[in-house]
Amino acid sequence: MDWSTRVTELLGSRYPIIQGAFGGFGNSALAAPVSEAGGFGIITASALRTPAKLREDIMRARSMTDGPFGVNLSVGLCPSIDEMRETAIEERVPVIFTAAYRADDHGRRIHDAGLKWVHKVVTIQHAVAAERQGADAVVIVGLEGTAFKSIYQLPTLVGVTTAVQKLKIPIIAAGGIGDARGLLAALAMGAEGVYMGTRFLATKECPISQRHKQKLVDADPWDPEFKDRCLAPPRAEEYENIMKERGSISQDEWLVRLEQVMFRHEPETGLKIDSDWGAEEALRIAGGSLAVGVIKSVPTVKELIEGIIREAEEILAGAGPLGRLFGSTHT
Ligand SMILES: Cc1cc2nc3c(=O)[nH]c(=O)nc-3n(C[C@H](O)[C@H](O)[C@H](O)COP(=O)(O)O)c2cc1C
Repeated sequence: MDWSTRVTELLGSRYPIIQGAFGGFGNSALAAPVSEAGGFGIITASALRTPAKLREDIMRARSMTDGPFGVNLSVGLCPSIDEMRETAIEERVPVIFTAAYRADDHGRRIHDAGLKWVHKVVTIQHAVAAERQGADAVVIVGLEGTAFKSIYQLPTLVGVTTAVQKLKIPIIAAGGIGDARGLLAALAMGAEGVYMGTRFLATKECPISQRHKQKLVDADPWDPEFKDRCLAPPRAEEYENIMKERGSISQDEWLVRLEQVMFRHEPETGLKIDSDWGAEEALRIAGGSLAVGVIKSVPTVKELIEGIIREAEEILAGAGPLGRLFGSTHT
């Protein structure tokens, strides 16, 4: 089956499956196998710490695959972000993903350099703004997903189906997606690709501990650790206080403080968010989403991507409701 969409055309990948950014450990060890298997891998600049190390990792990825991959720049978390961006541009990484805060300055520079810009957001308002600012596509992360949160964030289904009415640029769906049914559902909602974080954590190549991978396999989506991480709203008073501080402290510091408030399930003490994150710290803060419900094993990246595509094709051709509907319009 031909899986091309506007997103695969933009990214140059065979399948509309994108691997999420991971502060602390998102390097070529995972990104290259994803690209090699027909998906689109992402190297997270902040995980490499310095522009020189980012350049080395881009070169390492190129030695591992001819497939296309991108670089993620997380505003507020990525150290030396302008230099990181220039490194990705010099290395002609074809698509640069930005995230976490408005990134139109980066987007303009990326476009001036002749490369593509995709911005990741968690609200429809920010998706609309990114389109206005010229982004080539947006990733919209629904409440079911982990990492950056907003009080205006919607569940993945409502967020994507509402956003497709408002946007012309392609939408990539994220948040709780981890299997063939999630991929098909996202496409049915009007998205043209899926972006998966938690599902790619539980793969052989992901450079995190076996213990954490097994935890994802064993977890249920209703476990408070995962459910509250994704769904619990911030405490109203703390949220109001941090919003009042906006503009009175540096943007980077404010973004970190905002994230601390948004991740309200974390104990107030001991939570440290900064660009020196290692894998353990990143996992403690954003260690998995409601996608755990569909994680049953720890396959290789190739097994995962090929399995999702094979199962999606079986569903479309099978005896279930989607197969009957799809078959009847295609025979
Ligand atoms: C451990 C971990 C660290 C993450 N770090 C970042 C990050 O630094 N920058 C970023 O843009 N997204 C980060 N994310 C979010 C993912 O890129 C992605 O948006 C999210 O996992 C999607 O939801 P899902 O987990 O339900 O697939 C992180 C996710 C996890 C699980």
